[in-house]
Amino acid sequence: MDMMGELRRTHYNIEVRDETVGSEVTVAGFVARVRDLGNLIFCDLRDYSGILQLSFNDTTNAEVFAKAKSLSSESTVMAKGIVYERSSKNDEIPTGHIELFVTDLRILSISELTPFEIRDESNVRDELALRYRYLDIRRRPLTEALVARHNIVKRVRDFFDAHNFIEVETPMLVRSTPEGARDYIVPSRVHPGKVFALPQSPQLFKQLLMLSGIDRYFQIVRCFRDEDLRADRQPEFSQIDVEMAFCDVEDILNLNEEFIKTIFKEILNYDIELPLMRMTYAEAISNYGSDKPDTRFDLKLHDLSQILKNTSFEVFAGAIAGGGSVRAINAKGLADKISRRDIDSLVEFAKSYGAKGLAYSRYLESSSSSSFEKFLSESELEEIRKECGISLGDTLFLVADTNNEVVFNVLGALRLELAGRYGLIDSERFDLLWVTQFPLFEYSTEDERYYAVHHPFTAPMDEDLDILETHPLQVRAKAYDMVVNGTELGGGSIRISNPELQRRMFSMLSFTDEEMNEQFGFLIEAYRYGAPPHGGIAYGLDRLVMIMLKKKSIREVIAFPKVQSAADLMTSAPSVPSDKQLQELYMTFNLKQEE
Ligand code: AMO
Ligand code: AMP
Repeated sequence: MDMMGELRRTHYNIEVRDETVGSEVTVAGFVARVRDLGNLIFCDLRDYSGILQLSFNDTTNAEVFAKAKSLSSESTVMAKGIVYERSSKNDEIPTGHIELFVTDLRILSISELTPFEIRDESNVRDELALRYRYLDIRRRPLTEALVARHNIVKRVRDFFDAHNFIEVETPMLVRSTPEGARDYIVPSRVHPGKVFALPQSPQLFKQLLMLSGIDRYFQIVRCFRDEDLRADRQPEFSQIDVEMAFCDVEDILNLNEEFIKTIFKEILNYDIELPLMRMTYAEAISNYGSDKPDTRFDLKLHDLSQILKNTSFEVFAGAIAGGGSVRAINAKGLADKISRRDIDSLVEFAKSYGAKGLAYSRYLESSSSSSFEKFLSESELEEIRKECGISLGDTLFLVADTNNEVVFNVLGALRLELAGRYGLIDSERFDLLWVTQFPLFEYSTEDERYYAVHHPFTAPMDEDLDILETHPLQVRAKAYDMVVNGTELGGGSIRISNPELQRRMFSMLSFTDEEMNEQFGFLIEAYRYGAPPHGGIAYGLDRLVMIMLKKKSIREVIAFPKVQSAADLMTSAPSVPSDKQLQELYMTFNLKQEE
């Protein structure tokens, strides 16, 4: 039976506007809410575009009125009627001045009582909402996020298309890509004992496309990384992946800031001033304690090591003598907001980031207090106040450690904590910047070897080629990140296009010749047949949408996200394979705990 009968939708809800008053329209959607006032019934009808009020009264056809009486929330209906101006208007919604006086009603599907009420502001546990994600998506904020995401993706495609990029798809079943996370692996039925990996990114393929003569590539592409989840991390996520040939760092930064400006303008009508601020990695760390600084507020780090290197206070002198430093943040003007109790909790906060202590001074007219001033000389204190620009009303926080990484981590986190707690962030603002000249290598004391900070194909800066083997930790890379409001939105680099340099790089990364040939032989070989200089970048699409829509987590902009444990609560994935599946794959599980 055709449940819709002769009814055909003529309008989406929000297309039914004041101009349609007097005309006949047919709409379709979910019953959001019914108010039954006896001989008067109002029903909020929800479709993907918004809400429209349906009304029924004692002049309504009796059969239709009886159906309206029986309406239950979340059932689907089609309604035909005449558009009227409402007597009591609602300015909150676009259709708030009109209603549809229903002359014909079809109930298409009756909903059982839903596990939670579908309201704009969800107050439901995450687990429940994700278990019934299809209901969750009926909520306006989620529907709107998905619509916005679609609009952003469309503009992204338009921008790159207009700049001569073509979208090329790359394989999902691949050899492992070295982005640094764990791979998701897929066993192969036709190759017993072998596996594919799901790509952590299309890195190798986009480089090969440059060797193929595809001058400008982009792709909106799913990537898979088995890593610990956070608010801005999912095990599968989407990148806007970009690569271009015959270019250097400047070309890529220039084109990409044009890109981000265009998207913000077209979607949010927000003006981003170009050129974006550029900050080297070294500057970012020393000023902000972070390689993704949030520059919407000040609270910069001050290095007090010169001033304090000969101090008699052993905690500070010892940290400096041990190769570390003493650094400080001046929480400007906040002294009357930062209570004694706050300071105790900030000390605990600092310790949770690995600090051995957090020294402080509050500069108040009546009641200054300090945990460390008694240990320092008046001239040392004077110099500190000068360096940090201290005036009355300020609070100074100091961290000393023999390990600079600890000092930066703690103060970098403290900066954000202070800004969050004391409302220093203008949430209307988008601060975008480039962080450039990342280090090429990092050293793992655990594994006693160097790792590539970005990935092994990232080119060193020409100035540092001579010290590649002798001072690896000082070598800077032609690598850059785009940072927005303290989040890493994208990152990329110029690639090594010289096979000899690539060999040096692999050898620094402790690959033997066999390992190198076995894993990347095809790539090194490809570079022997004529290679354009090239480079690129990849943005986290989910992060871009999250930031533009001012959401707290990328889960709010992904239709079917996974939870902390990387599981999908709706479909209960992952699941146990059948014996037959395992047999075909020559697989058995060994579920005994490792001793
Ligand atoms: P990178 O590893 O920096 O670079 O990733 C690029 C961007 O992808 C986003 N991103 C993520 N988003 C959500 N969940 C995750 N688990 C996740 N991991 C990364 C971030 C990040 O900035 N192939 C290189 C790019 C290149 O060199 O061109 C790459 O993948 O926003
Ligand atoms: P102590 O002599 O250890 O009691 O330290 C005196 C003050 O210095 C206390 O307020 C400590 O919090 C602070 N302090 C101790 N260690 C550190 C450190 N590593 N960095 C900053 N302040 C510290």
